[in-house]
Amino acid sequence: MQNIQKNLLKENNTSEKILTGDRATGSLHLGHFVGSLQQRVKLQEQYMQTVLVADMQGLTDNGHNPQKVSANILNVVADYLAVGIDPVKTTICLQSKIPALAELTMYYSNLVSIARLERNPTVKSEISSKSFGRAIPAGFLTYPISQAADITGFNATLIPVGEDQLPMLEQTNEIVRKLNNIAQQQVLVECKPLLSKVSRLPSVDGRSKMSKSLGNTIMLAASEKEISKAVKSMYTDPEHLNILDPGKIEGNVVFTYLDAFHEDPDYVASLKRHYQAGGLGDGKTKNILETCLQDMIKPIRERRQLYMNDKAQLIEVLKRGTEKSQDEANQVLQKVKSAFGLNLF
Ligand code: TRP
Repeated sequence: MQNIQKNLLKENNTSEKILTGDRATGSLHLGHFVGSLQQRVKLQEQYMQTVLVADMQGLTDNGHNPQKVSANILNVVADYLAVGIDPVKTTICLQSKIPALAELTMYYSNLVSIARLERNPTVKSEISSKSFGRAIPAGFLTYPISQAADITGFNATLIPVGEDQLPMLEQTNEIVRKLNNIAQQQVLVECKPLLSKVSRLPSVDGRSKMSKSLGNTIMLAASEKEISKAVKSMYTDPEHLNILDPGKIEGNVVFTYLDAFHEDPDYVASLKRHYQAGGLGDGKTKNILETCLQDMIKPIRERRQLYMNDKAQLIEVLKRGTEKSQDEANQVLQKVKSAFGLNLF
């Protein structure tokens, strides 16, 4: 009996705790959907999972434009629910309403040097692409410390991320080791990445990074018209001028999306053979993709609209998840303060 229970525990992986988060700076798009949302819907069946709406992190490069964050918090929550993240199985919470996370950030910041922050490759490339010049907000340079507070504050051990987030996990584990070393006991646990197998979805134009402001993406809330327009403008093979010519699959965004979203891979494989041999036009492949995306996004858009019509319900979901998370983060905060000897009363 005991053995059976142990095995069950192992199969359910209940000892691992998952945390993911999104900066609340915009509604979510198909890139988020294949890269992480679909995975969260699966993981919630097996693991304890928390999803953090990172509004404070969103402010780190939007201090001058805070509406970009405040206006998107409920959009992100509506996106979560619309794709099937279930608030009964997944704790959905709001970063700014968990003060222990900000306090932890303050304590951890004493364990990290400015030089170390400046070496973080993700932050480094973000700084150069955002052209802050010398005016880098202190909050931006230090957001990896705040992310370490998020991860440790929820006792998270497994973090599903893309490659760009690996430096954050490395910095988190450095803080964990330093703190445990100061306390001479294990106060915090290290985390591990769970790297997503799906490769990054290209933007509609096949070149730059997907972004709503560049207009090269398909949002989960996209209307029928927007989907149609995006598919029609999709990058294919610029040398495939004549239907009878052989076409190239590599770099052809229509086929990348068919691979990612079409439910029948054998059919997609036969389309690819036809396209490569010649005789299959881009209009036809785009029509097939458009039907597939319209069918997939329609129920998501409709559910999302229902949630957006009932903001009180969205706020309630967020509030309940946040309250649950506050207790946990407070307990971690007490342990960290004790590690620094700050536990007089
Ligand atoms: N940095 C993450 C991103 O830009 C968002 C995030 C904030 C996060 N806190 C987190 C991710 C904690 C994982 C764990 O997407």
